[in-house]
Amino acid sequence: MARRLATALTSTDPRVAAGRSPSPWWQTAVVYQVYLRSFADSNGDGIGDLAGLRSRLPYLAWLGVDALWINPHYPSGGADGGYDIVDYRAVDPDYGDVADLEGLVKDARRLGLRVVLDVVPNHTSDRHPWFSAAVADPDSPEAARYHFAPPSEEPPNNWQSLFGGPAWSRTADGRWYLHLFSPEQPDLNWREPAVAADFERTLRFWLDRGVSGFRVDVAYGLFKDAALRDNPGSYAPTLFGHGPEQAMTWNQPEVHDVWRRWRAVCDEYPDTMLVGEVCLADLEQVALYSRPDEMHQSLSFRLLKSPWATEPFAEAVQSALDAFGGVGAPVSWVLGNHDKERQVTRFGGGAVGTARARAAALLMLALPGSAYVYAGDELGLPQAAVPDEAKLDPIFFRSGGARVGRDGCRVPMPWNDSDGVGFSPEGAAPAWLPIPADWQQYAVSRQTRDGGSTLTLYRRALALRAAHPALAAGDATVSTRGDVLTVRCVGESETVRCLVNMGAETVLVGCSGSVLLTSTVSVRHSAGSVALPPNSAVWVVED
Ligand code: GLC
Ligand code: CA
Repeated sequence: MARRLATALTSTDPRVAAGRSPSPWWQTAVVYQVYLRSFADSNGDGIGDLAGLRSRLPYLAWLGVDALWINPHYPSGGADGGYDIVDYRAVDPDYGDVADLEGLVKDARRLGLRVVLDVVPNHTSDRHPWFSAAVADPDSPEAARYHFAPPSEEPPNNWQSLFGGPAWSRTADGRWYLHLFSPEQPDLNWREPAVAADFERTLRFWLDRGVSGFRVDVAYGLFKDAALRDNPGSYAPTLFGHGPEQAMTWNQPEVHDVWRRWRAVCDEYPDTMLVGEVCLADLEQVALYSRPDEMHQSLSFRLLKSPWATEPFAEAVQSALDAFGGVGAPVSWVLGNHDKERQVTRFGGGAVGTARARAAALLMLALPGSAYVYAGDELGLPQAAVPDEAKLDPIFFRSGGARVGRDGCRVPMPWNDSDGVGFSPEGAAPAWLPIPADWQQYAVSRQTRDGGSTLTLYRRALALRAAHPALAAGDATVSTRGDVLTVRCVGESETVRCLVNMGAETVLVGCSGSVLLTSTVSVRHSAGSVALPPNSAVWVVED
């Protein structure tokens, strides 16, 4: 970590002296996703906050990440985990204030960490002053900033909310308004220039406070079909993302101009970046959002959505390398986030799920590009069983309980062995989501002392990734043979091979070199071969 930050922050880098410009930091960064509400509670109200995060920055520096991305910290209506924003240029009192954010950025800098914020341009909260004004007066300038339709029996078109049910709800006076997510998240009308102007102000507001960029929520949204025509089909949640069946709601060509303008704003602030959430089925379309004059990168969700088997994983890696390579952007790999079931559980749960999650981490951290690590994945947290009465996710409610919702991956972090696992100070209010009774076993304090823990594995992997540029900055080729997936990462001075056994039997792989790291102690290595147990991975520096 220290090495890469130094290259980005100073001109004393040997490569600069040699006449070569160092790569921008974000190209190979490990970005740690902080679910703010669940990270660390400083004042005992059971809610994670900026002061809590600030106190835990040394942990993130120790772990070896390069940057943190914080889920929305803005005043919010609380209908969708902070993704329904009331004021884009403020901090929710639950989390602190703008001075806390500035203090966080300064402390992070001192520790060599950068801070990336979440920005949500597709929709506001229904409690945003613009929406209140729009509801109060259909002829107000604010009403033009949303999608309203006059009263009628049927909604204006067949669009569905991603959280379930129609994408249109009615105001008290009978007008329809569009919300592609929950009714508390009215969609903005980006054909109205005041909307774009206000977001540029928001970007500058935070960039002026020293943040290093933004994760852009629903970056494939914003513009809708100008005539709001019916979609040809309904979205099937099994897809990798939206496709032609949703052609009228997403991925309108006009949106790319927004990213060009935002890129120009970021270009005024050195070393800042934009990373987009672009959930489209066609990866070539996703990559277009990261053309050289648009966002710096777009999150690649293929690994996150692939079942545990060599072919889907190889396809996930290769297709991302091809698509992003085609526009000259690095891939931003993702194995977990606040919207998806935790890896350990997704990959089968228990010992098997844990072994697979550890192996997958070594795979992701070897691949060229940046890697996004979701808070708690470095602890091997499983999906928590959140009782229905404690759930808060609108997906659970809007589907009438048919979809379990995302609360189980948003449960607070276990820090130590105490009853409350150290999330809040002693004697605090209960945590905002219940922490399972047996989570002390995953606590940071325990795993720090355990040389075989998932936390130790992540820390070693991050240190090695920083020390071996073939990892993260190499040229990768992917191949499969039986149950073994191989990624060969060719750097300037060495080649590192990542082997992953995704099958149920131990496999002997011919491979000479020295072992850098293994996901389990039971990997056996002798001259010329590696015996890989089921669900394990190894990094080998080739001779
Ligand atoms: C993104 C966020 C998700 C949120 C949605 C609506 O997909 O990751 O958590 O619910 O956008 O803002
Ligand atoms: Ca708190």
